[in-house]
Amino acid sequence: MKRRDFMKLPAVGFALGLTGYSCAGELDEDVQETDVQWTGRQQIRNMHDFQAPPCLPLRVGYIGLGNRGFASLQRLAKMQGVEIRAIADCYEYPIRRAQDFLKSRNLPEAAEYFSSKESWKDLCARDDLDVIYVTTPPYLHAEMAVHAMLAGKHAATEVPMAQTLRDCIRLVDTSEKTGKHCFILENCVYDFFESMTINMAQQGFFGEIIHGEGAYCHCGGTGSVLQHKPMPPLSEEASPYYQHRLKLIRGNAYPTHGFGPICKAMGILTGDRIEYLSSVETDDFVVGKTLAEMIEKTNDPYYKQFAGKTYGGGNSSIMRTANGKTICLDYHTSVGRPYSRVHLLSGTKAFCQKNPTPLISIGNDQPVSEEKMAELQKEYAPELHVHIGELAKKFGGHGGMDFIEDWRFVNCLQNGLAPDFDVYDAALWSCITPLSFWSVTHRSNSIDVPDFTCGAWKTNKPIDLSLRNGGKNTEMI
Ligand SMILES: NC(=O)c1ccc[n+]([C@@H]2O[C@H](COP(=O)([O-])OP(=O)(O)OC[C@H]3O[C@@H](n4cnc5c(N)ncnc54)[C@H](O)[C@@H]3O)[C@@H](O)[C@H]2O)c1
Repeated sequence: MKRRDFMKLPAVGFALGLTGYSCAGELDEDVQETDVQWTGRQQIRNMHDFQAPPCLPLRVGYIGLGNRGFASLQRLAKMQGVEIRAIADCYEYPIRRAQDFLKSRNLPEAAEYFSSKESWKDLCARDDLDVIYVTTPPYLHAEMAVHAMLAGKHAATEVPMAQTLRDCIRLVDTSEKTGKHCFILENCVYDFFESMTINMAQQGFFGEIIHGEGAYCHCGGTGSVLQHKPMPPLSEEASPYYQHRLKLIRGNAYPTHGFGPICKAMGILTGDRIEYLSSVETDDFVVGKTLAEMIEKTNDPYYKQFAGKTYGGGNSSIMRTANGKTICLDYHTSVGRPYSRVHLLSGTKAFCQKNPTPLISIGNDQPVSEEKMAELQKEYAPELHVHIGELAKKFGGHGGMDFIEDWRFVNCLQNGLAPDFDVYDAALWSCITPLSFWSVTHRSNSIDVPDFTCGAWKTNKPIDLSLRNGGKNTEMI
């Protein structure tokens, strides 16, 4: 086996000290280093379309039972052939809440781990788990997923999967070596409009898609997030820690919601790949000011640790693909503005855009009529959505897309099918954070985007939401 050959780029170190939330403890850095690249690497095995043996029942462990973890556990507990065997958090409240829920469904109690912030490692060591869901704050995802795969389990991580290039590489390497899936829980690909346009793209509706735009513009203003100190999840209302942390990171801190669906529609890693990106960023007009006000108001050491540092503003990244296409990706969460993921595809035959209002136009500058839109929705709804779309709306979770994501992943594992996203998707979608950070701190110079597939993107097949290979059989109980 040829060893990976690392080419050193200028090191970019960026560490943020955060100690306010005690379970973060010593894990106090979001190091957005970009000092690793790989050249001359060979794939150990291609995890795209990799089929692991079916897992029925599917035995699940959870690490992190805050908002996302608990919501997912509630969905999975209602799926036939799923057993929630073990749960870990570093606080007791989320554990009790999850156990109470299992009890209310007359399901067996799960083994519980919460005595320290390292207890999750004991969960990984169990020999009765097939998959571990990692739903902790972002800076913990990579370490936990690597650990889970090395312990012989498939891993599913919330977004983003990693925050450093080194971690992206580590995850690819571990998934290939262990033959374990590393699935990124990128729910937005399964949202109804996004999935429909992916299906349309695959059927040639847009012609050649030459340009895509995605975004994460969140209405949750910085002021309100930073004015509420993050709390451990001691109640339903606890302020999630990850939101605070993301506000402090420079570059595009949350790229995957906007980027994932665009990549799937444009066949990125299945026939095309991103070659390089450049990124610009506004100054910070809000975060530092808000933190300074909080120091003044509270004199709290939690806020004092942030004094005098440089924080990010709005970020815009542009990318060019090997096949000569372009993608723009925006990230704006520091000022109040309407929520938007944009989701724009511009093709030689047709165009679509989701936000602010879903529209499609065919070869001209006029959106199609409401009647035509309804026809298109009927014609191009992927079979996956036809099969479980109504159920998903009933179960909810961001309008149903969270349910579709969980159901689909569970169903793939139960049937030994390759999941829709592989570790290469996860690494590519997540590496935008460190690469955009590097670019904005280098006068927007471009930076190469690693080919995590080592050339396999040329022949890897596109996502298949058709269910033609089976996979309709996970019932709800
Ligand atoms: N896909 C989406 O739509 C979406 C939406 C919101 C959040 N997210 C992502 O989901 C993740 C979790 O977000 P959340 O809102 O559930 O946050 P949260 O703060 O509510 O939950 C995180 C949980 O992880 C636990 N935790 C922290 N450190 C731990 C450790 N060392 N060991 C075990 N448990 C630990 C916390 O105690 C908490 O219960 C984040 O990464 C975020 O980026 C995704």
